[in-house]
Amino acid sequence: MTFLCIGHRGASGHAPENTLKAFEMAIEMQCTWIELDVYAVENEVIVIHDDKLERTTDGHGDVMDASLSYLRSLDAGDGEKIPTLIEVIELVNHRACINVELKGAGTAEPVSQLLIQLCQRGWQAEEFLISSFDHPELAKTDKIFRRGALFAKKVDDYFARTTRLGAYALNLSMKITTAELVRQAHDQGLIVLVYTVNKHEDMQRLKAMGVDGIFTNFPDRFPR
Ligand code: G3P
Ligand code: MG
Repeated sequence: MTFLCIGHRGASGHAPENTLKAFEMAIEMQCTWIELDVYAVENEVIVIHDDKLERTTDGHGDVMDASLSYLRSLDAGDGEKIPTLIEVIELVNHRACINVELKGAGTAEPVSQLLIQLCQRGWQAEEFLISSFDHPELAKTDKIFRRGALFAKKVDDYFARTTRLGAYALNLSMKITTAELVRQAHDQGLIVLVYTVNKHEDMQRLKAMGVDGIFTNFPDRFPR
C-alpha cells in the first residue's frame, strides 16, 4: 500500500483550517485524502474543529447552541465560510478520499445518511473513512463505511476496541505510535494512520516504521 498523505483540516498550515480553500489547496498539494471535523446542527452536517467558535471564526459561543444561519454568516478566515460536509464533498468531487471525523454528539446518523445518499449518486463507500475519538458514536455509523478508531492516549486494549468497532484503521497520535504497535495493528489487519505530522523527518521516520499514512497541515513537506 502506498504511504498516504492526508490533508489535516485541509492544507491547514497554508489556509484557514476546515475551509473550502484549505481543502482545494490540499488537493493541489497532491493529497490523496483530506481529513475534516464535523458537528450536526439543525440536521445539517457542518465542518469545524472546536466546539466553540472563537478560535477559528469571528463568532462567539458554542457551535451546538448556535443556529445554522448564524454559523453560516461567520467568517472562518480569509472570508471563507464554515462549510457544510456536502459542500466539501462536491468540491472534492472524487479528486481525493475523505476522512470524516465525528466531533459533535449525534453526528453518526446524519453523516451516515448523507454518505448513503451520495453512494446512490455515484460515490463509493471506500472513498470515505469515518473516524472518532468517541467510539460509542462511531459505533452508530452505518456499517457500509470504513471506521477509524482514534486514540490520543495509550491504552492496554487497542485491539479489543478496534474489534468491537469492526475498525478498518487505527488512527493514532504520533506521541503514542511505536513500531511494535504498528506491527501488531498490521497483524490484526488494520491500517495505521498517524496525526499530526508536520516535520519532514517525522514523515520519513513513520514511513520507514511501516505506518500507512499521516495527517499533515503541510502536505508540501510530504516525502515523494
Ligand atoms: O483525525 C486525526 C486528527 O484530526 C485528530 O485530532 O484534534 O486534530 O481532530 P484533531
Ligand atoms: Mg480531526
